[in-house]
Amino acid sequence: MISPRFLALLEEEDLKDRAILDVGCGAGRLTLLLALRARRVIGIDRAAGAIEEGERRARAAGVANAEFRVADAEAVEYDQFAPQMVVAHLCMSDAIIARAGRALAPGECLAFVAFHVDQWRETGIPSRFAYEEERLTSVLRANGFGAEHLAVDRRVASFGSVAEGLAAAAPLEAKWKADGRWPRYVEFLERGGRTLTRSYLIVKARRR
Ligand SMILES: C[S@@+](CC[C@H](N)C(=O)[O-])C[C@H]1O[C@@H](n2cnc3c(N)ncnc32)[C@H](O)[C@@H]1O
Repeated sequence: MISPRFLALLEEEDLKDRAILDVGCGAGRLTLLLALRARRVIGIDRAAGAIEEGERRARAAGVANAEFRVADAEAVEYDQFAPQMVVAHLCMSDAIIARAGRALAPGECLAFVAFHVDQWRETGIPSRFAYEEERLTSVLRANGFGAEHLAVDRRVASFGSVAEGLAAAAPLEAKWKADGRWPRYVEFLERGGRTLTRSYLIVKARRR
C-alpha cells in the first residue's frame, strides 16, 4: 500500500503540467496513480518483467501519458527523461539522490518513501536501501536538496505467541529465506521476541 501521508505530500505539488520520473517503479503502482494527475510520468525499473507488467496495466487502464523503461536507476543519468519532479517508492540510495540532484532545476522536488533502518529490525538485517534521519538529511544536503518534510512512519505489530509471529511474516517467508532473514526472525521469536517492526521515511526535498 502507498502511504496516504506520502500521497498527500505529492498532492501539495502542482502536478498537472509536470513531467515526473518514478524511480524503481516496479509494475507501476505509483506511476499510474500519478499519470491521472500529471502531464507525463516515466517509470524506470531494472526488472524487465515489472516494466512489461506496468505497460500492460497502462494499456488496460487506457493511460496514454505513462511510459515505462528498463533502466538501472543507479547507473543512468535522469536528464534524458527531462523530469520536473522525481519520485520513488521503496527504491532509494545515495546514487539515486545524486542523479535526481543533477537532473532537477532549483525549486523542483524529490519525494520518496524509503525504508528506515528500523524496518524489520527483529531480523537483524537492514535493507541496503535503508536510511536513518541524520544520514539521509546529510546526503540530501550534499546533493543540493533541502528537506521540507522528513517523517518516520513506524508500525510495530505485537504477537501473543511464536505461531502468531510466524503467521504475520508468512507473506515474506520465501523472500526472507532467500536473503537470510527468516532463520534470524524465527530465532528472535523462539528467544521470546513478540514484535515485527515496519518503519519508513516519508520525504519531500526541494532542489536549492
Ligand atoms: C520494493 S519495490 C517497489 C516498487 C514500486 N515502487 C512500488 O512501490 O510498487 C523496489 C523496486 O525497485 C527496483 N530497483 C531496485 N534497484 C533498482 C535499480 N538500481 N534500478 C532500477 N530499479 C531498481 C526493483 O526492481 C523493484 O521493482
